[in-house]
Amino acid sequence: MNKFLISILSIFIFTSIALNAAVYKGQSEYVKKCVKCHKAGQAFVATKKKREWSVLMKEKGQKLAEIHLESEEKGVEDSHEYFESKAYGKNSKHLQDFLFEYASDSGNVPACN
Ligand code: HEC
Repeated sequence: MNKFLISILSIFIFTSIALNAAVYKGQSEYVKKCVKCHKAGQAFVATKKKREWSVLMKEKGQKLAEIHLESEEKGVEDSHEYFESKAYGKNSKHLQDFLFEYASDSGNVPACN
């Protein structure tokens, strides 16, 4: 019984650490790659609901990449290299974890910076 409890507990601790690590990785990706254009930072994340982010982020963030690659806005081409890169596809999962964490319906309030 004791062993059983300990293993349940350690699984729980391990997954919550892993989850936080993913959110953290996504956050640093966001700060590095998105904040330069979306200055509102985390407040920008809170403009969308989880469901809206999940549409943008599905299939390795394909839709989000398309918005940027097809946009005619001035300066948006600075994001093209990133959205076309392998790193984007690879990190899109972390980014999604972060976006979900601070989506408007997540219940989490973004930090003020
Ligand atoms: C080089 C500048 C630039 C970078 C870098 C950039 N964006 Fe954007 N983003 C834009 C522009 C410009 C638009 C508006 C596109 C349009 O409407 O034509 C946009 C649009 C968006 C939209 C849709 C806006 C809406 O209200 O629906 C989302 C969501 C978004 N960006 C998220 C991100 C995320 C997340 C990142 C980082 C992975 C990122 N952007 C990186 C410039 C950038």
